Amino acid sequence: MHQDEMKKAVAKAALQYVEEGIVVGVGTGSTANHFIDFLAADMKGLIEGAVASSEATRDRLKDHGIPVYDLNAVDEIPVYIDGADEVDANLNLIKGGGGALTREKIIAAVAHKFICIADSSKKVNVLGDYPLPIEVIPMARSQVAREIVKLGGDPVYREGFVTDNGNIILDIHHMQIAEPVKLEQQLNNIVGVVTNGLFALRSADILLLGSETGVQTIT
Ligand code: A5P
Repeated sequence: MHQDEMKKAVAKAALQYVEEGIVVGVGTGSTANHFIDFLAADMKGLIEGAVASSEATRDRLKDHGIPVYDLNAVDEIPVYIDGADEVDANLNLIKGGGGALTREKIIAAVAHKFICIADSSKKVNVLGDYPLPIEVIPMARSQVAREIVKLGGDPVYREGFVTDNGNIILDIHHMQIAEPVKLEQQLNNIVGVVTNGLFALRSADILLLGSETGVQTIT
């Protein structure tokens, strides 16, 4: 299977976790986009609706005619489906390649179950080859960058990019992340950081991993 075929396969497999009548949390990115398309084809009218992790996802859901709710208006999110940029054996993730990490992390925190859908290229032994995105309040950019250097990272400003929340992104390069929980906490403690793209304090519950032979379910 090619990479996009794997993305489609895991997106389709994620439908098994979506029960009738629920509000489903929906992630952002090309794999999540496939999920939205399958969700619309198979379950539109059967689910109550969705909560979107980005403006792009909200637009795609609405284009398909799926009701989109504000997170504050829903009682619970039984399941959240989203892609990742990297995933390790403990289902810790790097996310935010598309810049939607803050809303993604909020929905993941609320959701009872977080299903990560990814093609095989995303599976790694140690997180960090993929640059770790950090959403930062614009006026704190230089200060946060200096603090990241102290932690051993190499921050790069994502030029010309503004998040859905009006903030900027620093991508941390060259950081082998041996202790994801510890680093997530350290980054959270830097004043001016809104969110970091490590999902280790709240990792995925289930990984649907696309491979040459089909979809593997990893817990
Ligand atoms: C969006 O901000 C990211 O967290 C995405 O979930 C991640 O980049 C995966 O994207 P793809 O499915 O396009 O690889």
